[in-house]
Amino acid sequence: MNLTLQIWRQNGPNDAGRMVEYKVSDISEHMSFLEMMDVLNEELVAKGDDPVAFDHDCREGICGMCSMFINGEAHGPDRGVTTCQLHMRMFNDGDTIYIEPFRAKAFPVIKDLIVDRSSFDRIQHAGGYVSVNTSGNTQDANSLPVPKADADKAFDAATCIGCGACVATCKNSSAMLFVGAKVSQYALLPQGKVEAVERVKNMVHQMDLEGFGNCTNTGACEIECPKGISLSNIARMNREFFVSALAGE
Ligand code: SF4
Ligand code: FES
Repeated sequence: MNLTLQIWRQNGPNDAGRMVEYKVSDISEHMSFLEMMDVLNEELVAKGDDPVAFDHDCREGICGMCSMFINGEAHGPDRGVTTCQLHMRMFNDGDTIYIEPFRAKAFPVIKDLIVDRSSFDRIQHAGGYVSVNTSGNTQDANSLPVPKADADKAFDAATCIGCGACVATCKNSSAMLFVGAKVSQYALLPQGKVEAVERVKNMVHQMDLEGFGNCTNTGACEIECPKGISLSNIARMNREFFVSALAGE
């Protein structure tokens, strides 16, 4: 495949940034999108040009680093995949592909396609943990029975990889699908009850401080989420928040 790439280039947070056109040729349909980007960068480096900066780590859909907006969609045109899992067979010979960073006030651009998602880390620090007894008298996990249905829902919520596609997709730059998943994975388990009241309040407060918008129930986040995180997690977070407010702490 021969492709034209329109890529967002931005030297740093204070640079205005612009789209720059590149050509790549002989791209195999079996390559991943990131491998195609590697081909481009090898050519740029060989010419002495600055390679395109983009985040990646695991390249198997686990770490959530490979945030890119491709032809107007977070992680590109396929469903249920991250950019590193996106194959070039989703595109056609001669295509022009537009590649941009995830855009949100709370995700400032560091360089080119790399954005700073440490706002997610700070939300996690605000409440995404459970008490752990390290006294040597740790309770046997099997003494706390968990209904299978709850365990499954908690596991599903815990598959959120913190990629930020939900934020980038939402017209309000809302992080409520992410925070809903992180609250739910604890709210559904007995181990998560200890800090439950404080957790949801603190995580939602931090979410607001970081400048994320509110949810208006459009549902675009759920469609673009590579892990299929359900909107029901937002509803659960809202219920947890209501209970927390009633607790008056
Ligand atoms: S909810 Fe989905 S889209 Fe949002 S951060 Fe988690 S995995 Fe990514
Ligand atoms: S590089 Fe880890 S999810 Fe894509």
